[in-house]
Amino acid sequence: MTDSISQPTKVAVITGAGQGIGKAIATHLAVDGFAIVIADVREEVAQKTANELSQQGFRAMPSRTDVSDPHACDEMVARAVDQLGRVDVLVNSAGISKPGPSLDVTPEDWQRMMNIQLNGTFYSCQAAGRQMVKQGWGGCIVNITSVTAQAAFPQRASYCTAKAGVDMLTKVLAIEWAQYNIRVNAVGPSHTETEMTKTLVAKGMYALDTVTKRIPMGRLASVDDIANGVSFLCSDKASFITGHALYVDGGYLAYGYF
Ligand SMILES: NC(=O)c1ccc[n+]([C@@H]2O[C@H](COP(=O)([O-])OP(=O)(O)OC[C@H]3O[C@@H](n4cnc5c(N)ncnc54)[C@H](O)[C@@H]3O)[C@@H](O)[C@H]2O)c1
Repeated sequence: MTDSISQPTKVAVITGAGQGIGKAIATHLAVDGFAIVIADVREEVAQKTANELSQQGFRAMPSRTDVSDPHACDEMVARAVDQLGRVDVLVNSAGISKPGPSLDVTPEDWQRMMNIQLNGTFYSCQAAGRQMVKQGWGGCIVNITSVTAQAAFPQRASYCTAKAGVDMLTKVLAIEWAQYNIRVNAVGPSHTETEMTKTLVAKGMYALDTVTKRIPMGRLASVDDIANGVSFLCSDKASFITGHALYVDGGYLAYGYF
């Protein structure tokens, strides 16, 4: 006997889901059975990704959302509830990268990084958390951090600081919201095959063969590697895991030799 037909469809909101890691997470969670909100600051990519998922038979809607605006994060959650009825999962994947020598970073660039990577993650968590508490049955939040939350990279002071902040934010929310059955975890990728990485390589920030030699498993992460980690944390298999950072890094952080 199956009662799955009568169960309401769970809803996952994913920020930065128009492309890259966020898009792969959206696809994996759609396969897992979630209805998906594709939130991205670029409306056209959000729409395109939502269309692609819909054409594959999944339920997906776009949301033009700039996560650095707290009101936009509230609207993103309100839109999800209005159109899909609930919010069960939030994944924060929206992000930017702007490396440069710390001596030259402008206050505007520093602030922009914090506004998107750190503040935006908090605003989205707060908006989704409030809805999850209101619903009463709990939920799951996954914040995409980075190996740079733990390991210092040169010329990335704002990025590393923001990611380390998200790592601690994850732990604080996890212990505060455990009472509501809301689990909060992080997934920290190493270098992943996305546009962000292509841009950094094109700018000469690092050479691909140097990076792959530094990773014990000898390759970049695929977006599917990262999405698999998120899918696990959003599943019932992770029902007692909260406040944890799962590094999907091919052994990058464990490596301490040459
Ligand atoms: N690519 C990597 O090697 C790597 C490694 C570790 C961590 N990460 C992190 O993973 C996440 C996704 O990275 P990616 O490689 O897929 O990047 P990406 O540039 O391919 O995609 C990022 C997406 O976020 C969106 N975005 C940017 N600013 C936004 C805002 N203010 N509001 C809403 N959406 C916004 C962009 O439009 C884009 O669609 C980021 O948080 C990044 O820091 C990436």
